[in-house]
Amino acid sequence: MKYHTLKPFPEGFLWGASTSAYQVEGAYLEDGKGLSVSDTAAIPEGTTNFNVASDHYHHYKEDIALLAEMGFKEYRFSIAWPRIIPDGDGEINPKGVEFYNNLINEIVKYNITPVVTLYHFDLPQALQDKYGGWASRQCIEDYVRYVKVCFENYGDRVHYWLTINEQNMMVIYHPYPSEKAKYQCNHHMLLAQARAMIECHKMLPDSKIAPAPNITCQYPASSSPEDYLAAMDYDQLRNRMYLDTAVFGKYPEAFMEYLRQNDAEPEIQDGDMEILAAGKPDFIAFNYYGGGTMKYISYEDGKEAKNKPGEFMVGLMTEPGLAQGAPNPLQKRTSYGMGIDPTGLRITLRQLWERYHLPLLITENGCGVPDKLEEDGSIHDDYRIDYLRVHIQACQEAITDGVNLMGYSPWSAIDLVSTHQGVTKRYGFIYVNRDEFDLKDMARYKKDSFYWYKKVIASNGQDLD
Ligand code: BG6
Repeated sequence: MKYHTLKPFPEGFLWGASTSAYQVEGAYLEDGKGLSVSDTAAIPEGTTNFNVASDHYHHYKEDIALLAEMGFKEYRFSIAWPRIIPDGDGEINPKGVEFYNNLINEIVKYNITPVVTLYHFDLPQALQDKYGGWASRQCIEDYVRYVKVCFENYGDRVHYWLTINEQNMMVIYHPYPSEKAKYQCNHHMLLAQARAMIECHKMLPDSKIAPAPNITCQYPASSSPEDYLAAMDYDQLRNRMYLDTAVFGKYPEAFMEYLRQNDAEPEIQDGDMEILAAGKPDFIAFNYYGGGTMKYISYEDGKEAKNKPGEFMVGLMTEPGLAQGAPNPLQKRTSYGMGIDPTGLRITLRQLWERYHLPLLITENGCGVPDKLEEDGSIHDDYRIDYLRVHIQACQEAITDGVNLMGYSPWSAIDLVSTHQGVTKRYGFIYVNRDEFDLKDMARYKKDSFYWYKKVIASNGQDLD
């Protein structure tokens, strides 16, 4: 529906933006840091690795000052587990602890609220080598030990924590030896998350903690009842599997039956469901990049349809007997094929609020495209402003719908290395002067979107022109 008048953004709304450690920090082996699985992953040809990234490790003071100049109320970043515990389960690295102490001090100095992701795609490589990472229940214990180190060291200044970034994307899109192995890893991550929520509430009673999956509404590809059901089923696979378990401590029933009938059900030990039920989030953080579109696909046709690399980026995955991603001619897309779908954001906000009745925080949303640095140091990224504007309007519509939205933290605060598409695909308000392979001078430049977002924040979302 369209309203005649929109409610204003609430006082104290958390305007900010996000980054993750391995995509922005660089210094991948400095001061005792261990390797992560992201440091060792195969890099697509023609794109850079994460070794230097935006060199935020050495530029953090300058970077945080720029965020403060934009008027940030909130900054979401992640702590690299292998910087704190280089081999994942051994000695604590004092230099790593010190780096985040300094970073957090710098953030709070400007009255910016830190929102900390405890784990963003960078499992210590040593744990992957030692016992296969999340395939082993031991990973739950090591994750819990690591998050307790973070709570102990930073809990006096950090009051918002995120357990695991995009667990659903790690489960759905990464290769696993079998579907059963995939959902076993998922089960271990869910237990680790629940344990982190329990520990956080015990150790830091004034802090709040949330899961941070990538959540997006699912449209049926046609008006056929089969496609409607496929969209519903994919919603269970992609969204509810992660949030029903986090909030209600229960797996979604229909999808679990599907796993059972396809020999993919995880092994659940005595006491596991009690742990899932006991770990309660205080809010829901989620990343949003555009709604998915689903059609029904039979087991037979689904087996024939192979997922191709990169298809997940544009939501074209196949789940035999359940659903297959379909192109949506009615949805606008960026030059990289990612959706530009603000109404999908409003729908997603509504669905989450109506299902879970917990405050919501948008922890990613953004426009990754190449930018051009002009000779005078300006960057005219009107496409990014247009993208953000319509999504912020959708947030205001959702607030008018009654959704309790705490904040908007798009991707990304500063240019960084994209997960699969290098630094040419830029997301930031701040341009970092480097190319894929030429590190140049790493100087920071303010994009047009920097000045625009500063006005948006100063007006608490009223001035979007
Ligand atoms: C999210 C991740 O999936 O999307 C980020 O949490 C990532 O780490 C972002 O950078 C954008 O995707 P990409 O592949 O363009 O970097």
